[in-house]
Amino acid sequence: MSPIRRSVVALEAYAPGEQPPPGKFIKLNTNENPYPPSPRVAEALAAFDAGRLRLYPDPASAALRARVAEMHGVPREAVFAGNGSDEVLALCSRAFVERDGAIGYFEPSYSLYPVLADIREVARRPVALADDFTWRMPAGYACALFFLARPNAPTGILYPHATVRDFCRGFAGVVVIDEAYVDFASRDCMDLARELDNVLVARTVSKSYSLAGLRVGYAVGHPDLIAALDKLKDSYNIDALSQSAALAALSDHGHMRANAARIRATRGRLMEGLAALGCTVYPSEANFVWTRPARAPARDLFARLRERGILIRYFPGARTGDCLRITVGTDAEIDALLAALRQEEESGHE
Ligand SMILES: Cc1ncc(COP(=O)(O)O)c(C=O)c1O
Repeated sequence: MSPIRRSVVALEAYAPGEQPPPGKFIKLNTNENPYPPSPRVAEALAAFDAGRLRLYPDPASAALRARVAEMHGVPREAVFAGNGSDEVLALCSRAFVERDGAIGYFEPSYSLYPVLADIREVARRPVALADDFTWRMPAGYACALFFLARPNAPTGILYPHATVRDFCRGFAGVVVIDEAYVDFASRDCMDLARELDNVLVARTVSKSYSLAGLRVGYAVGHPDLIAALDKLKDSYNIDALSQSAALAALSDHGHMRANAARIRATRGRLMEGLAALGCTVYPSEANFVWTRPARAPARDLFARLRERGILIRYFPGARTGDCLRITVGTDAEIDALLAALRQEEESGHE
């Protein structure tokens, strides 16, 4: 008899993107920021007294939450701070879904969402997006908790604000609007977290603030929802170094905005370059581009780019298997990618 629970034996775990040793690849596979974080982060880390590590960190991450509250014009009780937004999402799956409830999400979307339903051993209730990956919601759709990535991943598509608002207003369960990539988009939905008591907006410092290595995310929403997450979190869910480094990053918006603007400009060049190669390019409002190659099967092209030292992301599956997701890197990295794609085209592989 296995000592492992049957559901854990059967669980298909979330597969994170490859993290090869630094320098081995042009790394365009996990939507990290190609630019370093604010210099204030290095200053905060250098000024950190290692003697403080003797003590447990602030369990409430109070300074960090206060900063987030100020940024978004909400009371402190409306903010939760988590160990990456992945922790925020996992806690939502534990807080808002009864044993006989269901977790909903679009297909395709962030592939962690169905795994969270499986871990909780509750039903998955996916909603298939339209053929072009735009919004499609069947009438009468219901579940306890809906994860709504906006911009969506891996497509980069930004659903219209009014559509999302209407959906949230008519939805009986909790909607988590996952805004991991929103700093690269034209409009956010933070107003819905302030206005509607069934909406949480989740954010992260991993992408636009260039701090994926830290593991800090947060949620904004009705204090009752936030209090539920607080009851379930690990006592000391964010370590002391991460709290002070994230606080430094969130205190330098100018740096984040300048990097996001550079990434948006490079995104435009990448989208044009792909279109010129005959690829189908979906309109991206994120720091990655979702594209269907002109001729070569996506899986083959992914493998050949890997051989050339360029790592992008391929998601097997009915809805995703003929496309590729390319993280927007520096201009030089994107030039190298486009050159490699042109060579593939010329060498007749495609
Ligand atoms: C849609 C989406 N949400 C959340 C996350 C996780 O972010 P974090 O690094 O804050 O856990 C990711 C990371 O890839 C993501 O794509």
